[in-house]
Amino acid sequence: MRILITGSSGQIGSALRHTGSLPGQVLYGSRKARNEADRLDIGDFSSLEKQLSRVHPEVVINTAAYTAVDRAESEPEKVFRINAEAPELIASWCRDHQARLIHYSTDYVFDGSRREPYRETDTPAPQSVYGASKLAGETAVQNTGCDYFILRTGWVYSPWSGNFVKTILRLARERPRLTVVNDQWGNPTSALSLAGVTESLCRQDARVRGGLYHYSDNTTMNWYDFAVHIVESAVQRELLIKPPEITAIPSEDFPQDATRPVYSVLNSERIQQQFNIRSGEFQTALEACLAWLQEHDI
Ligand SMILES: NC(=O)c1ccc[n+]([C@@H]2O[C@H](COP(=O)([O-])OP(=O)(O)OC[C@H]3O[C@@H](n4cnc5c(N)ncnc54)[C@H](OP(=O)(O)O)[C@@H]3O)[C@@H](O)[C@H]2O)c1
Repeated sequence: MRILITGSSGQIGSALRHTGSLPGQVLYGSRKARNEADRLDIGDFSSLEKQLSRVHPEVVINTAAYTAVDRAESEPEKVFRINAEAPELIASWCRDHQARLIHYSTDYVFDGSRREPYRETDTPAPQSVYGASKLAGETAVQNTGCDYFILRTGWVYSPWSGNFVKTILRLARERPRLTVVNDQWGNPTSALSLAGVTESLCRQDARVRGGLYHYSDNTTMNWYDFAVHIVESAVQRELLIKPPEITAIPSEDFPQDATRPVYSVLNSERIQQQFNIRSGEFQTALEACLAWLQEHDI
């Protein structure tokens, strides 16, 4: 099997690279690739098409995305090009060449007005440019009629790229006191868990029908709870010598450019029922991320 990964220096791309468990021959495409043959900018449509034709993958794993949620508010054209138009082009190529596409979307397609975990059948209503662009990407992929898996997930963290775990660890080393919002709820999900799910989907028989699936690790919490877990676990591992004092604050005391859903918990039953893929256990996944950071002295 020939697999092309886009965005391979990001969180999910790096997790796929470091777990190294994908079947077959894998090309790790990235804007940052040192090797010319692996260089891939999905916003440059003519070179994207050339790469697809050259590699001729049987599976494309599209982890590349514009993920800077606040910055997205000020450059919507660029965001839609990367998050909607590029996935459409990739999906069209997959349809025309009988390839399968594995694509990722976000809990931020929802407005957060519910208080029960969102299912795939719930109506999206994004509140931000990022959320709207990811929803447009989902729709574009589905409309091409290609063979796709779209995985909606949320609150992704990993040892790589920028994320909440790494930010909290850095701030906890720098400052005696931290304030973290406690009125936005979601499911912290490890990119390593998502790499495992992606691998399982890659191994599905070509006759298995794809579709839209929610996947998150198994615990619901707010950002303040998440920060407390990170700091406690880091102290236990001696990644952190002195824990900072952490104070919970409301979102209105932490203004951000993009509106985020106050509740974006995902119901992952469908993927479990269909493929026997169970949600990863939150604490185990967090420990694995911290262990990796410790081992590599980050
Ligand atoms: N992070 C989250 O909390 C979260 C939550 C829900 C869903 N998701 C979705 O999960 C997927 C993967 O997210 P992630 O957390 O792994 O994101 P990430 O760490 O920000 O990685 C995204 C990657 O996309 C690459 N990229 C951006 N523009 C590109 C372009 N024009 N051409 C090629 N590559 C480009 C970036 O490359 P550079 O390194 O060169 O900038 C980066 O490596 C995305 O679809 C995202 O929307 C993420």
